[in-house]
Amino acid sequence: MQSQATASTPVTAPGATVRPITLMTPEIAARTAPIHARLRSVIPDARWQLFAPDIDAILRLKKERNAVILAHNYQTPEIFHGVADIVGDSLALAREAARVSADVIVLCGVHFMAETAKIINPDKTVLIPDMRAGCSLADSITAADVRLLRQKYPGVPVVTYVNTSADVKAESDICCTSGNAVKIVESLGVKRVLFLPDEYLAQNVAAQTDVEIIAWKGYCEVHELFTVADIEELRNKHPGITVLAHPECSPDVVDAADFSGSTAGMIDYVGSQRPPRVVLVTECSMSDNIAVQYPDVDFIRPCRLCPHMKQISLPKIREALENMTYEVKVDAAIAVRARLAVERMLAVK
Ligand code: 13P
Ligand code: SF4
Repeated sequence: MQSQATASTPVTAPGATVRPITLMTPEIAARTAPIHARLRSVIPDARWQLFAPDIDAILRLKKERNAVILAHNYQTPEIFHGVADIVGDSLALAREAARVSADVIVLCGVHFMAETAKIINPDKTVLIPDMRAGCSLADSITAADVRLLRQKYPGVPVVTYVNTSADVKAESDICCTSGNAVKIVESLGVKRVLFLPDEYLAQNVAAQTDVEIIAWKGYCEVHELFTVADIEELRNKHPGITVLAHPECSPDVVDAADFSGSTAGMIDYVGSQRPPRVVLVTECSMSDNIAVQYPDVDFIRPCRLCPHMKQISLPKIREALENMTYEVKVDAAIAVRARLAVERMLAVK
């Protein structure tokens, strides 16, 4: 690890390797003061003392490496507001990855998002700070499963949610995200499609289109846990509250909500409608991130963490830039086919 002109001390946890941490100095405090000012409402001062040295180092390393940081809306506020250059939902991250001119992309999100960035940018170095950042939806289906489905439903186009591996994307006709799924399904001009792998998203899309949807039994381990009873309890406790739900939730939960949309859709709703009190039925870092932007909105925050998104942390981002780890690679032949499916999605306006 590169040393800083600051005091360092080792921290140990049982069974962990010794990692020197950089302590806060007046210089770091001054350089990071504008970010600290923005985050005061969501990050207590004591935690800021821990975050600021890594933020300061990451901002320097980004310049040295000609790197950009793309962060998903579920990243924690110190990443989302502290070091990210581009933030957004899966669709925005895929679109922005196509426009990046830097040499290095650090993807702060989960592995399929980093793979998508690599598929779009085969000549760039794409890093993910922790390879264990997976996704239960991506793990729910394989390329062999898609090939079998094609045999079972000959001629039916395959629409694949971006929450899948590059191998699965390569077997697909077109990708979609929760932000454009209905539009993508309807863009094909067919009577029925295979829609993989999220069964709840498939059912939520089916409710908004006449196209017949054939689904797979994949689920998001975070969103499948929300229930209608949770929403009723929230409405009882907080009369008048506005409930926004991600379409990876079950159709019952989506029906019980006031609005359903991708993570960016929910942020746009809060920005345009300014509900006085709101609950986001999704991963819990979202509320912390938007609360910074909309201090006038009261966010009720029942917390469900995505354990995969939470593998990413400031020290790991710093290490990624110091050591150029962990590089995301996609087999060239797979990448070419997967890219077609992603590009077809990006071409749908
Ligand atoms: P969005 O595309 O809405 O950001 O969703 C990604 C995701 O993984 C939700 O769980
Ligand atoms: Fe995957 Fe669900 Fe985590 Fe999103 S929240 S990355 S869908 S496990």
